Parts: sequence; structure tokens; C-alpha cells
Amino acid sequence: MGSTSFGIPEHRFGSNGEKMPVLGFGTAVFPPVGAEATKMAILQSIKLGYRHFDTAAKYGSEQPLGEAIQEALSIGLIQSRDELFITTKLWCGDAHGDLVVPALKRSLQNLKLEYLDLFLIHWPVSCKPGTYEFPIKEENFLPMDFNSVWAAMEECQRLNLTKSIGVSNFSCKKLTDILAIANIPPAVNQKKLREFCRANGIFLTAYSPLGANGTFWGSDRVLECEVLKEIAKAKGKTAAQVSLRWIYEQGVGVIVKSFNGERMKQNLGIFDWSLDEDELKKIDELPQSRGVTGVAYTSKYGPFRTVEDIWDGEM
Ligand code: A2P
Repeated sequence: MGSTSFGIPEHRFGSNGEKMPVLGFGTAVFPPVGAEATKMAILQSIKLGYRHFDTAAKYGSEQPLGEAIQEALSIGLIQSRDELFITTKLWCGDAHGDLVVPALKRSLQNLKLEYLDLFLIHWPVSCKPGTYEFPIKEENFLPMDFNSVWAAMEECQRLNLTKSIGVSNFSCKKLTDILAIANIPPAVNQKKLREFCRANGIFLTAYSPLGANGTFWGSDRVLECEVLKEIAKAKGKTAAQVSLRWIYEQGVGVIVKSFNGERMKQNLGIFDWSLDEDELKKIDELPQSRGVTGVAYTSKYGPFRTVEDIWDGEM
């Protein structure tokens, strides 16, 4: 595995040999902090060595990310956009065959970029064309037509608007459906299906590795986990670093969000030490639960369609 000039290991993608730094910077913030604060946090992260950025049409962070990239270029933090790995995601309201390419073009405009490194389908459901509310209202949900949406994703890659395409929040079953019809298989899935993805040559990237603490769907269960805290203490690290290091040691990529300079640095400091067997065993024994229950599907608007539609009853 190669690494960036700041020592972040890079995962190499299939035939094109694209390189993705395995640690990415998350830009989804809840509650929102505003465009300027987002841009400044991203700029600071570029200074510290982050080169992989994760955004989505839905996050409202495409524009600030685009501005941060422009500024990083103009002040010489980076010499070329090619030094960055940029991911964005297709929102459910655009997950219709004829809306995919225009949606990507809009995202590129927001990002002020000619091409993306990775374009993901954000969720395996569609909603009424052109509706962008979140959470999605029950009456606006539609099943996704995988055939036309994936064909349009492939078209995006053929048009060189993106180097790679992939999915997010897809279960094994839904990935199987995509693989059955794909000419270009998904390169990345941002969900937890390790064995399946490995067997199918799909690189898995974990999001919310620290439990999305502070959001309405997250909790402090990771950062306050006694086992992680104990291991952290013994190693002179933090629980956050132990969590990130563990993910890295599983051969999985990770997107972590921090807009705080010290924590940004801390989260980069996971590549020059390792967990020992006993520590890995203790972490493996931690009880696990489904992480994303209801992100898009519960809200102040009332009960929504069950997440079983998305997970097919499995993790
Ligand atoms: P902040 O941006 O103030 O650092 P996740 O990546 O799982 O979604 O978690 C993001 C949350 O975790 C944010 O609230 C972020 O807050 C916080 N966070 C990020 N890095 C760390 C860290 N090293 N220690 C403690 N909290 C962290």
C-alpha cells in the first residue's frame, strides 16, 4: 500500500489504479455550522494533511468544500486538484435514471471541479423526483429502479465526470442486485458488510466511526465505551484513536468528521502504532448494534417507513 506525503495509507482501486487515502475527512455536520466555518475547517484539515474529503448533495457542504479547494490551490497548500480525493453522493430525489447525470453536474458546479474521484448512491431508496427534504416524508418514498439508476451512474463514469462509482448504505442483498446488472461494479460501499465486499472486490469505508456523537441519530457510546477507554489509557492514545485504528486494521477505509484542530490532528495519528492481539480480541467482543437505525426514517414528522426496507432485515 502506498501513502500520501503526510503518511496516510492509500487504497488502490481496480484497473484504473485510482488511489484513495484510507482516512477521509467527513463534512456532514449536524446541526449545521454555516458555510464559512465549514470552509475554514476544511482548509485547516488540508494544512494538517487530509487529502480525502467526503461530502454529499444533501450535506450542504459541497460549496464550502469547493471554495476551500480553490483557496488551498491559490495559497499553495496543494499544487493541483489531483492531489485530492473527492467523494460526493446522489440524493434520493435525484435517484432516477434521467436525473443522475444532471445531479452530478450540479454537484461538480458546487464543488467547482471538472471531475469527482468517487460518486456514490447515498441511500438505496428514491424519493419523488426533485424533492430534497430531509427526513423524507412517507408519501414521497419510492422504490429505486436499480437498472436505470446504476446505468446512469455508469454513464457518469463514461463521461469522465467521475473516476469511480459506488454505493452507500447498501445491504448485501441490494449489492447483489446491483452486481447482477452492473457493467461497472461499485468500487466502494460505505456500509458494514466486510466479508461480502471483500469477496466481491468492493472496498468498504466506514462512516460515523465515533458514533456520530452530537447528532440526533448518534450517541457517545463509542467515545464513552469503557473497553476502548481502557485500551486507550494503556496505549497513551484516546478512545477515538483506538476506534479509528481498529477500523483501519480491519482493512476498511474510514471517514471521520472533526472541525476542531486538535481533534483533526489526533484523528490523523493512527498510522504509527498498532493494537495487539489481546486488545483486538476485547474490541471484537464488544456488543454491536445496527448503527444507522432511522437516519432517514424517523423524525419529528412522525413514524416513517421501516429501515427494514433498506437493510432487508440484515446488517
Ligand atoms: P468535533 O467536530 O467538535 O471534533 P463521527 O465521525 O463518528 O460522525 O463523529 C463526529 C463527532 O465526533 C463530532 O461531534 C466530532 O466533534 C467528534 N469528534 C471527532 N474526533 C474526535 C476525537 N478525536 N475525540 C472526541 N470527539 C471527536
